[in-house]
Amino acid sequence: MAPSSLRPLPQIVVLGTGGTIAGTATGDPSLPGYTAGVLGVEDLLKEVPTLGSLAQIQTEQVANVDSKDMTFAVWTRLAGRVMHWLAQPSIQACVITHGTDTLEETAYFLSLVLPLDKPVVLTAAMRPATALNADGPQNLLDAVRVATHPEARGIGVVCVLHGVVHAARDVAKINTHAVEAFSSGERGPLGEIEGEHLRLWRRTPPESGAPFALPAAEAWPRVELLSNVAGTDGAVVRCLVESPCLHPRLRGLVVAGTGGGTVSRELEAALEAAAAQGVSVKVASRVGPLRGGDDDGLSAVKLRVRLLLELAAIGTPLRP
Ligand code: SIN
Repeated sequence: MAPSSLRPLPQIVVLGTGGTIAGTATGDPSLPGYTAGVLGVEDLLKEVPTLGSLAQIQTEQVANVDSKDMTFAVWTRLAGRVMHWLAQPSIQACVITHGTDTLEETAYFLSLVLPLDKPVVLTAAMRPATALNADGPQNLLDAVRVATHPEARGIGVVCVLHGVVHAARDVAKINTHAVEAFSSGERGPLGEIEGEHLRLWRRTPPESGAPFALPAAEAWPRVELLSNVAGTDGAVVRCLVESPCLHPRLRGLVVAGTGGGTVSRELEAALEAAAAQGVSVKVASRVGPLRGGDDDGLSAVKLRVRLLLELAAIGTPLRP
């Protein structure tokens, strides 16, 4: 066996999409104000010189956005580029730099459309690249460590943040300011990175029904997300269903229900009427994962991602 120093380094691709990890402050770097999605992915790599000893890295800038502005067009382009790179036998994995705000949605979307054999590792940062205590460089290093680790083969789409490996299905942002901003909830994370070592405790079983076909940029249906709160009636649902202004027309509704997925009587009646008109309705809980059921405890935002892909796969039937 060749000594490890003579073995060729794994080849990976790092794709940039923006976020705070690529953000810069114009003023005092110890102060909070900054703009997300400014630096290119090449600039992020330069901050972590040790990456060169882990992998041969190619880069691609897919977008440079604050992830609150994530669009279906960027999702389609990103998934297409990841598929392109992973189809090349020499490429072992992809790493994606992203904003934290919609990281869990992008990760779950990718997990539903990509094959699971090669790792796809998303990472992000809570502090901009110009902060004195920026967390992006360490997160990027950890993400590349996971992407190139032999044990990560077949792990699918994961998020690596603050030394923790989260499954795309379970990860959620739970804190608006701390660097430990992500949790995998009751299921817990898949593993952790300590220094050079990756410890994986579990793997996620593949989603039943996945992978979904990747919708063309113009083929994404409209699926809106509502919440059941004190005073919610059925008016917004009726407006959404009947509105002639919506383009494309409403195809699905996801409700973050109260408690065990309950909704007010008036909202329930409006949802039933919407369903009778061909709108797909799904209910999650605003509290946390629901036990049992077909949707297996998905958060409302992830249930919406899944419904988007289900409806895109069906095409656009005419509503009565
Ligand atoms: C973003 O999501 O792009 C901004 C916030 C962040 O990355 O933490």
